[in-house]
Amino acid sequence: MSNSQTRPVIIDTDGGVDDALAIVMALNCQQLDLKAVTVLAGNINVNQAANNVLRVIEIVQPKQTPLVAKGCEKPLVRPPFNAAGIHGSDGLGELHQFKNADGSPRYPQLTLEPSSEDAVDVLLKAAQEYGSELAIVALGPLTNIATALQRDRNTLQKVGRIVIMGGAVKVPGNISAAAEFNFFVDPDAAQVVMESGIPLTLVGLDVAMKAPLPRKDVENYAQKQRSLVSQFIADCTGIYMAFYRDNEGFHGCYLHDPLAVGVAIDPSLVSTESVYMVVETEGRFTSGMSLADLRDRRDESTFPPNVDACLEVDTERFMKLFYDLI
Ligand code: RIB
Ligand code: CA
Repeated sequence: MSNSQTRPVIIDTDGGVDDALAIVMALNCQQLDLKAVTVLAGNINVNQAANNVLRVIEIVQPKQTPLVAKGCEKPLVRPPFNAAGIHGSDGLGELHQFKNADGSPRYPQLTLEPSSEDAVDVLLKAAQEYGSELAIVALGPLTNIATALQRDRNTLQKVGRIVIMGGAVKVPGNISAAAEFNFFVDPDAAQVVMESGIPLTLVGLDVAMKAPLPRKDVENYAQKQRSLVSQFIADCTGIYMAFYRDNEGFHGCYLHDPLAVGVAIDPSLVSTESVYMVVETEGRFTSGMSLADLRDRRDESTFPPNVDACLEVDTERFMKLFYDLI
């Protein structure tokens, strides 16, 4: 995509903290024409996830407000599983705790509401309208996208590319030793997408864990670049960053979802390898594991590559893009 062109994009999100940072980037990026934000259950339930997206839009105040449509309330097969313990019970670091100097809520009642349209219908209508120009950036479990494929495969197959935050190739999982959270929550949906034939870019933990955001940098940024957005970023990341401090000894967070938006904007930020990948849906210990065939003896005629998996990232260039867009 050249710098002068804008590209129609839909973000599919489960409404957590790093999702919010990614949506801030997308709303501020001139190169992305964010047509809609489709929402599903993952980090938090689908209704709260939609409210969190609306919260971000109200804070950023973009010239054009994207449609926000709610989708799947639970995974295709597995029982619901959320990350409220990591992102906060509201999915955005318990924003209700923050007050203005006069004691009024810093984050008052929302004025925007989600569309009455169903997210899966929105994805299919956009695929029909924009075809190969459309990129979908998937920041949560792949339930909405898999449901769209099950409902009308031929139409969704018209999209140009799906950039997926999910999985891992050469590094362990995060929510389990084997699985990354988005694929863990809905492994069946992830495998449906792996079999879709749609061009896929996997922004997995191999590169997401190379995009750390230290707490001190967020606090310095909020002090130097005082704004509603920088204050929101400092507020919503507090609990999320404390989780990493208490569980991984790093007071900060990893920019999983913002990196996926970054890759959609500038694919040169990462180096990829085309691999044949499957997602385990049955494993007692490995459910949600993304398994890439990296063997020298792999048989690509029988198992052709289905994913461009990101293995390296230019962290410095990505962090510059991140700060340019928040
Ligand atoms: O594993 C990280 C992913 O799971 C991110 O998308 C985060 O928001 C959660 O959805
Ligand atoms: Ca997410």
